[in-house]
Amino acid sequence: MGKMWAGRFAKELDSTADDFNSSISFDKRMFRQDIRGSIAHASMLGAQGIISATDSAAITAELGIILEDLENGKLEIDESCEDIHMFVEQVLTERLGDVGKRLHTARSRNDQVATDLRLWVRDESGKVEQGIKSLLEAILDQAKKNTETIMPGYTHLQRAQPVTFAHYLMAYAMMLTRDLGRLQDAIKRMNVCPLGSCALAGTTFDLDRAMTASKLGFDSYCLNSLDGVSDRDFCVETISALATLMMHLSRLSEEVILWASWEFKFIELDDSYTTGSSIMPQKKNPDMAELVRGKTGRVYGDLIAMLTALKGLPLAYNKDMQEDKEAIFDAFDTAEMCLDVLAPMIKTMKSCPANMKAAAQKGFINATDLADYLVKKGMPFRAAYKVVGQMVGQCILSGKVLEDLTLAEFKEHSELFDTDVYEAIALETCVNKRISKGGPTKASVEEQIAYVTEFLK
Ligand code: ARG
Repeated sequence: MGKMWAGRFAKELDSTADDFNSSISFDKRMFRQDIRGSIAHASMLGAQGIISATDSAAITAELGIILEDLENGKLEIDESCEDIHMFVEQVLTERLGDVGKRLHTARSRNDQVATDLRLWVRDESGKVEQGIKSLLEAILDQAKKNTETIMPGYTHLQRAQPVTFAHYLMAYAMMLTRDLGRLQDAIKRMNVCPLGSCALAGTTFDLDRAMTASKLGFDSYCLNSLDGVSDRDFCVETISALATLMMHLSRLSEEVILWASWEFKFIELDDSYTTGSSIMPQKKNPDMAELVRGKTGRVYGDLIAMLTALKGLPLAYNKDMQEDKEAIFDAFDTAEMCLDVLAPMIKTMKSCPANMKAAAQKGFINATDLADYLVKKGMPFRAAYKVVGQMVGQCILSGKVLEDLTLAEFKEHSELFDTDVYEAIALETCVNKRISKGGPTKASVEEQIAYVTEFLK
């Protein structure tokens, strides 16, 4: 394929160098955005009288047909072109002759690719937002069913204090609302149009940059042309938002993996989201959750690749920037895939309340409540802490839990103990009396559920 830029060269590009230089194998997925951008540019050129109204109309109409032909498979992308921008322009020129050659007036691939990629990120982030919302809905579903399902809460993965499964899950819901917010913030900031920055220094033609920007749904246009063509911090920001999202998905997946183990058995995953073993007939493995955890590293890698590609670049465009696409495509693809599989997996899992309760009954997770009991009867907290610590120590030696002790045994440790102690350290009480805002009580978790439900509207 002859190069569009062949004019000043005496020799053809070496074929290995050509392959190395080419980006069409991956940037072809931006064909819709590229065509949309070109349609906006061509209509603006026409409106400004930079090209004739007839040429502008012919170009925009033909670009529409090219898009249709690509969508329905009538036209195939020719991968011998250097990139998607060259391909679209080449097809247009094949079909319209000289008229097609007018499209690239007052434009460079530098502002073109910067525009296309922003459009792509904006389109794609809509999918991630939808994915986050589906996962939030799945979590809300589970939470509503489990506001009274008592389970142990942990610190250091040691049983700590009782919570409910709904309370636990809603913690992840809160993280996801922020993940969505982070992505939306990044999209808001990047929603300015680089078209009209041209190669780096603008153009002698009288463009209407506001018109192209608004046609493409941007809030405005980049104010500095050098910045317009070399800014990729929108990639850094969006991948960073996705990396944080993945970190949260990975933590949730880790919990699912633990909970689904025989050691915990707090949940039963639906068969459709688990796999068997080729040798061990009894196995039911949480592969999906493990893969989400595993794929998190890829997105971190994409972020580092993006940051590193940019760190040494002088202004304005440098070919290094072509590396932005695979990083950002991979980050979005990975996050979308993970959300697509996690949402139904969470929705279909079943909690095992009896196992959660049994786990909550071991591990002295009502010890803080026992200390609080003494505090409410007048003992200073540090003293109460010490008394209960000694009681726990003795219980461990005798293989008992706190609620097994007789009143006489309680009284050996403090005269403040009375019959109401049993009620005070019952797991249900420990949850229901944690009335501080944000805590595990049914009312508190229902408030959290209401907040997220409202957030989703
Ligand atoms: N394929 C290129 C990229 O993705 C398009 C921009 C090329 N610009 C240039 N001056 N060579 O970055």
